[in-house]
Amino acid sequence: MNRPHVIVNCAMSADGKIALPNRKQIRISSDEDIKRMYQLRNDVDAVLVGIGTVLTDDPKLTVKEKYVKNPKQPLRVVLDKECRTPHNAFVVNNKAQTLIFTSTKKNVKKYKENVEVVKVLLDDEGFLDLNQVLSILYDKGVRKLLIEGGGTVIWNFLKNRLVDELYIYIGSIIIGGAKSPTVAEGFGIKNENEVIYLKLISLIQLGEGVLLHYKTIDESL
Ligand SMILES: NC(=O)c1ccc[n+]([C@@H]2O[C@H](COP(=O)([O-])OP(=O)(O)OC[C@H]3O[C@@H](n4cnc5c(N)ncnc54)[C@H](OP(=O)(O)O)[C@@H]3O)[C@@H](O)[C@H]2O)c1
Repeated sequence: MNRPHVIVNCAMSADGKIALPNRKQIRISSDEDIKRMYQLRNDVDAVLVGIGTVLTDDPKLTVKEKYVKNPKQPLRVVLDKECRTPHNAFVVNNKAQTLIFTSTKKNVKKYKENVEVVKVLLDDEGFLDLNQVLSILYDKGVRKLLIEGGGTVIWNFLKNRLVDELYIYIGSIIIGGAKSPTVAEGFGIKNENEVIYLKLISLIQLGEGVLLHYKTIDESL
């Protein structure tokens, strides 16, 4: 299957949490990491999040001029089975194009003209089929896709062996909380045979934190 190159970017605390125990957003990245993240966004064709992140964080998913001169806005992509993306969410504003993947067109709201809603099939676990999502994105010209979360989406891409690279920023803060969201949620692996192995490419200090760059290891080789 032709699919885009898939990059995951995420910021976590030193204790591995990506948000507060009540799932609300908290700033984890340093200024230096935020600049890097905007440059990365500018360098890809599309940026993808799950509806969980849209409803809790209301992200814009655009590139700010403050960080990148003459930004070229990537396509914004939302995985949203029931089409719950609010019509006034930042992710559907007119600053860039948006593609919402859904499994039903029943609830589709009146979005602006920059928003396309595309129906895809469900996988065995009732999530939107990521192979179909990636194939459609490829057909639309997306060659580099950035996954920005949250943990459920990142886990499903990893579990389906659809991630090529990961950037994980570790901020020098502790959040705590057994129920605080982490980088990879879902049910996790069942046994050692299912471990997802990574190759560490680089490790650099960015402000007060550390940026880890990994590639996934292709076990079929
Ligand atoms: N620190 C960071 O870098 C960072 C970045 C982003 C988010 N976050 C945090 O992450 C948390 C949100 O994460 P989350 O896990 O609740 O939500 P999420 O991963 O953003 O979205 C998950 C939802 O997306 C939908 N979905 C549809 N197809 C899917 C598929 N194939 N795989 C996975 N999900 C699919 C499902 O809802 P439907 O069934 O309704 O479609 C699913 O429940 C928030 O606390 C946010 O602050 C942190």
